Amino acid sequence: MTLNIPEHVTNQGLIAWVQEIAELCQPDRIYWCDGSQEEYDRFCQDLVDQGVFIKLNEEKRPGSFLCRSDPRDVARVENRTFIASAREEDAGPTNNWRDPKQLKEEMIGHYKGCMRGRTMYVIPFSMGPLGSDIAQIGVQISDSPYVVVNMKIMARIGSRVLDVLGDKPFIKCLHSVGYPLEDGQQDVPWPCNPDNRYISHFPETREVWSYGSGYGGNALLGKKCVALRIASVMARDEGWLAEHMLIVGIESPDGEKTYVSGAFPSACGKTNLAMLIPPKGYEGWKVWTVGDDIAWIKPKEDGRLYAINPEAGFFGVAPGTSYDSNPAAMETISRNTIFTNVALTDDGDVWWEGMTKEPPAHLIDWQGNDWTPDCGRPAAHPNARFTAPASQCPSIDPAWEDPNGVPIDAFIFGGRLSKTFPLVYEAESWEQGVYMAATVGSEATAAADNQAAIRRDPMAMLPFCGYNMGDYWQHWLDMKDRATHLPKIFRVNWFRKDENGKFMWPGFGQNMRVLEWIVGRIKGDKGAQSTPLGKVPSYDDLNWTGLDYGADRFNKLMQFDRESTEIEVEDQKNLFDKLSDRLPTALEEQRQQAKTRLSA
Ligand code: GTP
Ligand code: SPV
Ligand code: MN
Repeated sequence: MTLNIPEHVTNQGLIAWVQEIAELCQPDRIYWCDGSQEEYDRFCQDLVDQGVFIKLNEEKRPGSFLCRSDPRDVARVENRTFIASAREEDAGPTNNWRDPKQLKEEMIGHYKGCMRGRTMYVIPFSMGPLGSDIAQIGVQISDSPYVVVNMKIMARIGSRVLDVLGDKPFIKCLHSVGYPLEDGQQDVPWPCNPDNRYISHFPETREVWSYGSGYGGNALLGKKCVALRIASVMARDEGWLAEHMLIVGIESPDGEKTYVSGAFPSACGKTNLAMLIPPKGYEGWKVWTVGDDIAWIKPKEDGRLYAINPEAGFFGVAPGTSYDSNPAAMETISRNTIFTNVALTDDGDVWWEGMTKEPPAHLIDWQGNDWTPDCGRPAAHPNARFTAPASQCPSIDPAWEDPNGVPIDAFIFGGRLSKTFPLVYEAESWEQGVYMAATVGSEATAAADNQAAIRRDPMAMLPFCGYNMGDYWQHWLDMKDRATHLPKIFRVNWFRKDENGKFMWPGFGQNMRVLEWIVGRIKGDKGAQSTPLGKVPSYDDLNWTGLDYGADRFNKLMQFDRESTEIEVEDQKNLFDKLSDRLPTALEEQRQQAKTRLSA
């Protein structure tokens, strides 16, 4: 088979690797992606012609498409995500470890001939602004044209990436949907392989091998696999942070901007917070979006931490997104967007639960079936997603592609917790902040196929840390010595419920009140009181202009009731025990101090 090497491709390591993978996977053809708009349009049209994409109504949703996945391939597969470090203890007890040599042998068995009847796409990509010294370059080989067009939105891809790469090494990312087409076999709209699925990471050799899924983080390898799991290992080795965080700039009426970064588990509100529109009462305030999912954060000479968003697009949760909850996201996805697993309206537009108060009378659901409001099934899959260019976001920060990044003054950590945890509290020291972040818990969401109702999700990185969680915590603690001007650390919880199961806090745009308090704490002009677990605002420390929310309600929302907090602190021990080999002593000290303060 011909490699079809374009003239500008001179990286010998790349050519040799493409040849090796072609011999292994035996595609019918090889195609090198140039990353152009013309190529993107052509691929989308091909997908329409093949019945994989549905072109949406050009008037209502210009340049946009709907795609329906196989119902067996709808989210990240955590139990098939592997960290194959040379030593088991370097993956640690929170990751699925596999011996790299054995895992590769096993996977090679599956990769053999897996692209028969298909085209193998070579997708050079840059995570981070192209050519900046903080960007990381990878090449993904994939047999999925859906992956190609999604990567075009989510990363900087194509020939210009290879021009920057020159003859240097790159992160090798191999992906196959694991569905070869034998002689004349008819393809299916969403090829995948539910029985043999692997999302494998080889941190020491900076490689990713993915097999059997075409969905999201399983298949768009620049995102979770490279920018979090592999990058977290690089960050450990080089003294920076790769985090599951949004980045926003909060501008006050005097024009001053404060950047904060926030970690929330999957489907717990990062996109919403990243695009927050200040509510009534906040005239003159503005929230600027830098990123909604991943932050790379580095210490600089001036002693501060600077963050960049390594992505170029948003792969956001569709259900719940509306002009009420997130108007900036609705604008962002008004055109040039790929929708996966949402419902189709009769006039060729999209719909999902929560998009409008009244559902349409008739839809085609995410599986292609007729849907009516009384049919008892969701119209969109709960993990249905949109893929849209970040540049289309009306609140995108002018500095979002600045290779120097933006200076971070606070880290915010939150989970989906219906009990125990108040709206916001602040760490009194870096160590207490790391302890607060390390013990974040969250209730299950549709973003992954894990079944646990509630679990610890340290720094929202449980599924994304490419090495031992204990070492990762130590790395966080060590950042104290790498920066002289450390961000303040906060915990927030938008999800507390009352005894009737109703959210106690209106959330969304109203979260601005918490952001304002956080900015005030950074600048030193807002008050706070100490509690056993950290500092909290009293009713009058928050700005209530424009919202009718009384002190009694607020006090109930902010309550740390002793009994359930003690149970919580006791329960944290389970995670600490699991990590005991590498648990930083500073964190157990923090836990003990919390216990002592609680019982005082
Ligand atoms: P990933 O892309 O999976 O990493 O997640 P994300 O954190 O970006 O998730 P996203 O912002 O899309 O979260 C969506 C879910 O969070 C929806 O169910 C929203 O309704 C809910 N949500 C977001 N903000 C709030 C809030 O302030 N209050 C409440 N109650 N729910 C919220
Ligand atoms: C997440 O699950 O945290 C996501 C979606 O951001 S995915 O890219 O599919 O991992
Ligand atoms: Mn995410």
